[in-house]
Amino acid sequence: MNDRNFYALVAYEDGNSGFRRRIERKSINDLPAGDVVIQVKYSSLNYKDALSASGNRGVTKHYPHTPGIDAAGCVVESTDPTWRVGDEVICTGYDLGMNTAGGFGQYIRVPGNWIVRRPAGLSLLESMRLGTAGFTAAQCLLHLEQNAVTPDKGPILVTGATGGVGTVALMLLQKLGYKATAVTGKATEHDALLALGATAVMDRNELLADSERQLLPARWAGAVDTLGGKALAAAVKGTGFDGVVTCCGNASSGDLPLTVYPFILRGVHLVGVYSANCPMAKRVQIWNKLAGEWKLDLSAICRTVRLGALEDAIQAMLAGQSKGRRVVDLEEVT
Ligand SMILES: NC(=O)c1ccc[n+]([C@@H]2O[C@H](COP(=O)([O-])OP(=O)(O)OC[C@H]3O[C@@H](n4cnc5c(N)ncnc54)[C@H](OP(=O)(O)O)[C@@H]3O)[C@@H](O)[C@H]2O)c1
Repeated sequence: MNDRNFYALVAYEDGNSGFRRRIERKSINDLPAGDVVIQVKYSSLNYKDALSASGNRGVTKHYPHTPGIDAAGCVVESTDPTWRVGDEVICTGYDLGMNTAGGFGQYIRVPGNWIVRRPAGLSLLESMRLGTAGFTAAQCLLHLEQNAVTPDKGPILVTGATGGVGTVALMLLQKLGYKATAVTGKATEHDALLALGATAVMDRNELLADSERQLLPARWAGAVDTLGGKALAAAVKGTGFDGVVTCCGNASSGDLPLTVYPFILRGVHLVGVYSANCPMAKRVQIWNKLAGEWKLDLSAICRTVRLGALEDAIQAMLAGQSKGRRVVDLEEVT
């Protein structure tokens, strides 16, 4: 096993032109220490991967580096008694793909306590159609449910609606009987968002109008925000009494220009959502829901690419142009 060679996408610093990416031949010996070696069948592309692949030191400190915060595959070697050769597993988050070589390689080696057993009812491919983006969308919905934001309370705002988190959130909201207002910057995608399950679509500029006001008319019972900045502020300012705004992303900004008034006059709850270090019990609960009562067919919003074709998808994501989800099939490179 130790001498096995495989292919991985490697991001590296090019002195002249910043960061670039290429496919390299690697050995299992190149992988970091860990209890379990997994042959990766599928990974997926998340915004964090695009940042890691392009030299964002807030995500990845040391290069050359193999990104990929998601991986699903088979255990091929284990010193952890929980895991046996042949087990089908999902590994998302923790340090995978950040400073630990990630799922854009055909093998990973990770600590046993980062791994979730593939739940019955969800194939490895389906798990990566969801990936961290889908897992995060599900976590946002769990927070709405747990805070009594039921479908009868009113519509839910979803920002960054054409992105990975946004599309899965819209589909889950529809499945669970909610009305959802999708916010997008892509004028061409309104019909597609309605077809996905949104009950209304709003241009991003419309959401951001009146952004200097401290409170906006209460239009939403809750929100799934992936953008941060003024969009998150508008979501909080436009949410009604006891509503819940889940904050999971910063695709637009890390700032939050707000006053206290939505909180002290309407009791709006702002809930932070983090997936990388999500505790294992909650992690398993969410994967089981996604394999069972919350199961979605994501084939329509998901394209499968090989390592050799990831470059275009990474560039589109960095430009805010991505739509839906990209699964990475590790079986073949090109
Ligand atoms: N907290 C966590 O654990 C967690 C987990 C997963 C993701 N995230 C974060 O959630 C965010 C979304 O992730 P994703 O995987 O869904 O990314 P994605 O697929 O790239 O989607 C992001 C969407 O946001 C909009 N957008 C992109 N750039 C923008 C900009 N500069 N200004 C305004 N809108 C912009 C676009 O949608 P429209 O054109 O439709 O507006 C884009 O499709 C990212 O910030 C990511 O890091 C966090």
